[in-house]
Amino acid sequence: LFNDVINNSDLELPALSYDEVQLVYSQTKQIIGTMVEYKELMMMYTCAIKEVKTKFDVLNTEFNVRYRRNPIEFISTRLKRTSSIAEKLQRKSLAMTPKNIEDNLSDVAGVRVICAYIDDIYAIADALIKQDDITLIARKDYIANPKPNGYRSLHLIVSVPVFFAEEKRDMRVEVQIRTIAMDFWASLEHQLKYKQAVDNEQEIVDRLRACAEVISSTDREMLSIRSEIEQAADIPSE
Ligand code: GTP
Ligand code: MG
Repeated sequence: LFNDVINNSDLELPALSYDEVQLVYSQTKQIIGTMVEYKELMMMYTCAIKEVKTKFDVLNTEFNVRYRRNPIEFISTRLKRTSSIAEKLQRKSLAMTPKNIEDNLSDVAGVRVICAYIDDIYAIADALIKQDDITLIARKDYIANPKPNGYRSLHLIVSVPVFFAEEKRDMRVEVQIRTIAMDFWASLEHQLKYKQAVDNEQEIVDRLRACAEVISSTDREMLSIRSEIEQAADIPSE
């Protein structure tokens, strides 16, 4: 390409000096190099998601045999969108480079686990953290300490090794574990955040917080009912 631009007079390009062409060439090469690196990094995060998801699938299968029920209702995964990655780095005044992504973002790879009962959340989280290839980087218990708006979930940032053909990479994954009810609340609250209730915003916030309280007491009551039934039926509990 470089020689073509220099030598081919058929190309109707503005006259550029040798130095200018060289600069454009080296910058283009750098951009393409970064794009390839970015794509590879995203592939690695995708694989890290698979590793963590499989671990939860395995735990769910084991619990099913051991306790005759599924602690996990479903698992969803997501890779952070490029535009969201760029936005978050910009907020931190950092350039969009693969190194900055790896060093500064913990939520590029996301796994969300939805459980039926509150005790399953902690059982599943502890079972994951105990695994010797998992490193716990951060744990935020928004169930014991809900956010002021009423948000509840257990958040974990873990690091998991992923084996590729030529190397092993420790990748960070954000795990959110919550009940079906907490998930219902969080999805709705998330949607409403973007709808911008114009005049009655405070009222909406208050009503959402009230819903979160009702949901929380329902979650606790459902767990208590399940425990009583299990005791009566002599089913082993976790
Ligand atoms: P982010 O920079 O937004 O990722 O937040 P953080 O680094 O302070 O981490 P935190 O653990 O508080 O939140 C991480 C993720 O949890 C968010 O990206 C959301 O997916 C979810 N989350 C946290 N707070 C709320 C909330 O109030 N409502 C909803 N719907 N989701 C929340
Ligand atoms: Mg986030």
